[in-house]
Amino acid sequence: MKRFNYRGVNHVHINVTDLKKAIDFYTTILGFKLAGRRDPDKAWLSFGQYSDTEKLWYHNLALTEVPERNDRYWDRSGLNHFALEVESPKDVDEIADHLRTHGIKIIRGPGVHAEDMTYHVYVEDPDGNVIEVMANTTESDTELRKSAQWAPVRKWRELTRS
Ligand SMILES: [Fe+2]
Repeated sequence: MKRFNYRGVNHVHINVTDLKKAIDFYTTILGFKLAGRRDPDKAWLSFGQYSDTEKLWYHNLALTEVPERNDRYWDRSGLNHFALEVESPKDVDEIADHLRTHGIKIIRGPGVHAEDMTYHVYVEDPDGNVIEVMANTTESDTELRKSAQWAPVRKWRELTRS
């Protein structure tokens, strides 16, 4: 199979129903930086890694405002969630505390995924888009790895099974 030189996911583009509210959430809660905005319906945000003098709107997250919300991420087609990687499990805990302090709903975690032993926490943005903040664990994270769990089987599958 041909292998291309992918460097990683450059950005995720999501639809939101209130652009201003979404920008507020991603900047004040998750620490993103607004790179550019085009009225009336688009904004581009970065992790904050670019200099203030940067003229191009390099971004890691793009937002488009749409009229309707669909927050059933667990059984809709399309995006389930996107994951932001931080340095260590300690960073995940720090973000989880920060989310709790701001009264943001944590929908899963902190915990460890059985498939790859990553430590994670899941949160919803104001539109029900799901963001996972995660870090790799190492062999020395014995206790954490012992708590690893598989994601539950989705309800619609249980309901449609005869
Ligand atoms: Fe994930």
